[in-house]
Amino acid sequence: MSFLGEERKKNHTIGLVPTMGALHEGHISLVKKALLENDKVVVSIFVNPTQFDKKDDLEKYPRNLDRDLTLLELVSENILVFVPSVDEIYGEHIKSQSYEFNGLDKVMEGEFREGHFNGVGTIVELFLRTVSPDKAYFGEKDFQQLQIIRKMAASKKLPCEIIGCPIEREPHGLAMSSRNERLSKTTRKEAGFIYETLQAAKAKFGTESARNIADWVKEKFKKNPLFQLEYFQIADEDTLTPMLKKQNDTKYRAFIAVYADGVRLIDNLRLN
Ligand code: PAF
Repeated sequence: MSFLGEERKKNHTIGLVPTMGALHEGHISLVKKALLENDKVVVSIFVNPTQFDKKDDLEKYPRNLDRDLTLLELVSENILVFVPSVDEIYGEHIKSQSYEFNGLDKVMEGEFREGHFNGVGTIVELFLRTVSPDKAYFGEKDFQQLQIIRKMAASKKLPCEIIGCPIEREPHGLAMSSRNERLSKTTRKEAGFIYETLQAAKAKFGTESARNIADWVKEKFKKNPLFQLEYFQIADEDTLTPMLKKQNDTKYRAFIAVYADGVRLIDNLRLN
């Protein structure tokens, strides 16, 4: 990272886009935003083992470094790609640290993926300390992750602004994700169903209770054999606590996790 020292001496600003590779348009939109707001952008590509709760999911995670490097080269010369090995990051002990996320990690993804957010916190803290970026960019598809990283950066007093960026979607509405590569062509096309369900939930939000909407979503999924619902939750955007009674001054989001072709997909949508 000595190159970054030179950049700092020139008073250049640095943006960081942490990724696990298998880059898609969603990642590229983060990189482009980072390039607009900083002189140099570091893109890390690292499939972080400690954030996977299932060995099989880690093994099947798509990897395509050559393609990723070509894609980034086409975007700008002002990108530095950081591709550490598992050994460089963790040495012999592939273990995460324990964080106190004030309950943000106890719901939704935290409930279904044990240890996931400690793994994310560990790697993101390490990258923020190594690169010392002015700003770091994360997609809102992983909205719970974004809130948790904000919390971690604030509690560790890391001098970096955490920027959330809107979800990029495929033509049929599926939120872009590296995991989409593992879906069959038919499922990928049909997976707009997930976003359509979120949009319909949003339409109901003005007049129906969170409970009724969740029941309606469950029924909708029962009738569609291509997708298996893991959870649907309407929650407070800041605290991530499930909505019981609607409060006027609170921002709510609908969060969803679904399996399709054995691949786990997540999405979310702001409701008000
Ligand atoms: O969102 C991801 O791709 C990962 O969780 C991240 C932030 C790069 C940490 O490994």
